[in-house]
Amino acid sequence: MGKYRNIVILTGAGVSAESGIDTFRSAGGLWENHRVEDVATPQAFVRDPDLVHRFYDMRRAAIQEKLPNPAHDALAELDARWTGDLLIVTQNVDDLHERAGARRVLHMHGEHLKAWCTSCDLRSPWRTTLIERPPCPVCQARTLRPDVVWFGEMPYRMGEIYAALRSADLFVSIGTSGAVYPAAGFVRDARELGAQTLELNLERSQGSRWFHESRLGPASEVVPVWVEEVLA
Ligand code: APR
Repeated sequence: MGKYRNIVILTGAGVSAESGIDTFRSAGGLWENHRVEDVATPQAFVRDPDLVHRFYDMRRAAIQEKLPNPAHDALAELDARWTGDLLIVTQNVDDLHERAGARRVLHMHGEHLKAWCTSCDLRSPWRTTLIERPPCPVCQARTLRPDVVWFGEMPYRMGEIYAALRSADLFVSIGTSGAVYPAAGFVRDARELGAQTLELNLERSQGSRWFHESRLGPASEVVPVWVEEVLA
């Protein structure tokens, strides 16, 4: 297990790019084709709920057609074999980490395959559409929304994330541009808390200067190599 014991891994859209899921800010990415203000804010949902539902219904259907790639598989193997603490904090709302077999996964921006009822505040597994306003499986109210954290909303389980960062001796960031806080600030927090920091990304991210080491390349190539090293 080498010199590390407790690992926090932050993943972003880049880890799912090779599974055919669009990233947000790359050329042709989601935010080039959709205005954030139209589909990813609470105000947008009040203004035009059909437009928002159509956007997430389409993405919810699309991710169910995709398969994990070698980066997801390697992280699932690390999760299965790592005897120290390990937490995969993902900004992604797809379920590819879990479908690859990873268990210690925390979705800080929510999940496509869940619906959140704004009447009873419960979340339910959801695989179909919401645009027709189906009743909540628990309270029957027709007030389900995508269980995705929109801009201006608080990410989930921040207390658990900071607790893991405090005990981490290795922080690894995979496939994220470092454009969105609070996730983009984790590397600096981890480094200031004494952890070693490693970036695995196609190109340098906005927070690159905070990493002790950056390895550039497609996740499906650089992640399995790194996992083999850390398990050696
Ligand atoms: N392998 C590794 N990295 C890749 C690959 C790949 N195959 N393809 C793209 N990348 C990198 C890009 O270089 C970029 O740095 O992944 C990053 C993707 O960045 P973004 O599209 O900005 O996605 P992400 O960082 O996950 O966005 C953060 O912003 O829109 C919100 O809530 C949304 O969770 C999302 C958050």
